Amino acid sequence: MTVTIVGSQLGDEGKGGIVDVYGDVVDVVVRYQGGDNAGHTVVYEGDEYKLSLVPSGAVRGKIGILGNGCVVNPKTLFEEIDTLKERGLSPDVRVAERAHAILPYHRVLDGLEEDVKSDDNLAAGTTGRGIGPTYEDKAGRRGIRIGDLLDAEVLRERLEYVVPQKRALVEDVYNLEIGEDVDADAFDIETLFETYRGFGDRIEREGMAVNCGDFLGRRLDAGDEIMFEGAQGTSIDIDHGIYPYVTSSNPTAGGAAVGTGVGPTVIGQGEVVGIVKAYLSRVGTGPLPTELGSVDGQTPADGGRPDESELATYIRDEGGEYGTVTGRPRRVGWLDMPMLRHAARANGFTGLAINHLDVLAGMDEVKVGHSYTLDGDELLTMPPTTEQWGECEAEFRTFDGWPDVEWSDVAETGYDVLPENAKTYLEYISEELATPIYAVGVGPGREETVIVESPF
Ligand code: IMP
Repeated sequence: MTVTIVGSQLGDEGKGGIVDVYGDVVDVVVRYQGGDNAGHTVVYEGDEYKLSLVPSGAVRGKIGILGNGCVVNPKTLFEEIDTLKERGLSPDVRVAERAHAILPYHRVLDGLEEDVKSDDNLAAGTTGRGIGPTYEDKAGRRGIRIGDLLDAEVLRERLEYVVPQKRALVEDVYNLEIGEDVDADAFDIETLFETYRGFGDRIEREGMAVNCGDFLGRRLDAGDEIMFEGAQGTSIDIDHGIYPYVTSSNPTAGGAAVGTGVGPTVIGQGEVVGIVKAYLSRVGTGPLPTELGSVDGQTPADGGRPDESELATYIRDEGGEYGTVTGRPRRVGWLDMPMLRHAARANGFTGLAINHLDVLAGMDEVKVGHSYTLDGDELLTMPPTTEQWGECEAEFRTFDGWPDVEWSDVAETGYDVLPENAKTYLEYISEELATPIYAVGVGPGREETVIVESPF
């Protein structure tokens, strides 16, 4: 069977940890979208692993696959694999031949466009990894796929077509000089050819290339347990998120079908677990109706709640809310229920894992944005445009706080011994989303997770 793990908010919900907790019985872990913009931290036997591309399961010796829906920077991929090897692991990572490769010019162009957009407050605050430009080339039918790196003739042909376009973009649209303002190697056919053929060679030598859907189909037929590991979250999905402050792929559950070649009916027979952080965090720009405090360069001028800065800093520090990839401080806010109702519908959640409950411990009260008011109307889900979302006034409900306790003991004993007020909070979320709770994260380690039910 399959289990699909999906972020229900804005990314950074702690998906890696839940993949890890349920990962023991899994045979294959597959990422279906995104690239090295993701950052997941896995703690295993006391050691912390920060990964951005390699699927979390690789830390546990599972087969990890980057599906066709991913955009793969081979340089990052090999750096991560080599680091894991140096730390004594033997990750078995495969890459779909249909996945698109990120090239150095994608990263450069990501930065250039963000600079231009920042003049109009349109910058998405991207991770700068070249994700958007790579998906643009995919949709524009000028991308270079992993399979192309294995064939020198095809690779050269593709580069000869696309690189002059990228050069023209830099020189004639951005009016910059290659070699002066931007790195010349990133726009040089010969250098790119040599480097990417080298990556192709290694992929081939190490038997990493797969025909993803076919591979997974055969594994499912053989009775394997497969986990689809979503990166980012529903509200930064290119179709269902807060466009244009989104990533360029589909983190939502439908992406698991498109991004791997396993049919939606197969995925629909399995489970779809929504990962929820017990409050909200956000890296990037755009509105955030339940935001507490503000972060320079990310919170809009008229946004946030500057009078709640102390509380925001407390949650940020307790929760370690600093980007895994970029180190940027994340914006934080109270839980946003309309966002979660939107996610529960768009993904068809069959279960929830609610993380970071411990971060809110010790407060007198905890609030949630239960609904929005927009033009005098009550909204229970997110409106379709980000401009409307920015106009939404959050209507809060207040819950009594719960004490800080010995969380690993709670995790060992089980759900029943969670502080009563914490259970009231969790049950409110579960009832509002009409979805059962499968797990509650009460700390960063795998032993600090209260497991209620396994989706497998
Ligand atoms: P990109 O994915 O680098 O193009 O960035 C687009 C938007 O998605 C920006 O607002 C990023 O901050 C956000 N984003 C991308 N990856 C992640 C992630 O793993 N966690 C949280 N936000 C992300």
